[in-house]
Amino acid sequence: MQRYAVFGSPIAHSQSPRIHAAFARQTGVSMDYVAVEAGHGDFAAKLAASGVQGANVTLPLKEDAFALCAETSSRAQRSGAVNTLLRAGSGWHGDNTDGVGLVRDLTERHGLDLRQRRVLLLGAGGAARGVAPALLDAGIGELYVVNRTPARADALADAMGEPGRVHARGWDALPALGGFDLLVNATSASRGGTLPALPMGLAAPRSAAVDLSYGEAAVSFLAWARAAGCSHAVDGLGMLVEQAAESFLLWHGVRPETEAVYAALSGQGDALVTAD
Ligand code: ATR
Repeated sequence: MQRYAVFGSPIAHSQSPRIHAAFARQTGVSMDYVAVEAGHGDFAAKLAASGVQGANVTLPLKEDAFALCAETSSRAQRSGAVNTLLRAGSGWHGDNTDGVGLVRDLTERHGLDLRQRRVLLLGAGGAARGVAPALLDAGIGELYVVNRTPARADALADAMGEPGRVHARGWDALPALGGFDLLVNATSASRGGTLPALPMGLAAPRSAAVDLSYGEAAVSFLAWARAAGCSHAVDGLGMLVEQAAESFLLWHGVRPETEAVYAALSGQGDALVTAD
């Protein structure tokens, strides 16, 4: 039996084992996928001891995973972060499927056209870095990276290497930025604190808002988005399922269907049968 795992902290409530078990049943792949609690200090040792063929990596380990790879995909290099590990000889190949997962969720599940759109990215940490390259590749018109610590927004914008399309700002610039077609909350504020008040003028009636978190952590930003008049307010569950499908494809060479798994996780479909 092939072994796979997701590493991160906290990891107890990760949906990834359920998602991959459902994909494996659907595609007839025989594998075991477990969640492993690991932090900065013990990730490398736990990964080495795990005997896995591949792994997902989540908070707070995506930069650690990038650093330990012998080779990385170009999209992982642009993000500086790895969420998917594949064995490459005695080392690891690193990839990042978060950005393509977000774009697939927005365009295919929610029917949004991202081309030429004016996009606001709140946050400049690992989550923001993971999705910025894919948003640019999807053909958006402009990307404003706004962060509480302006130097991190500058660093993210510089790393994208497209000064004509990508602009960095501090939080205090928000009231002057006008309206956006797409607003992406990539801050970790809702997981540990509160997001500063956002000007209503950031949203317009046809704006879409997405929070990269899901469940309770996404509630306050999405409530703000609805109150501000956004026509779409979506959490990160669809992105989670789509990035998992991309990882599954990289490991097993087959792309699973995501809709039934998404419906089950969002409480709209049949419950997922747990893996035995
Ligand atoms: P992640 O991997 O989730 O992106 P991270 O790299 O620690 O985690 O980045 C967290 C992001 O959320 C950063 O952009 C952070 O802003 P700073 O760079 O200024 O720290 C942002 N963030 C966290 N708490 C916040 C808050 N209360 N208000 C605004 N931004 C916040």
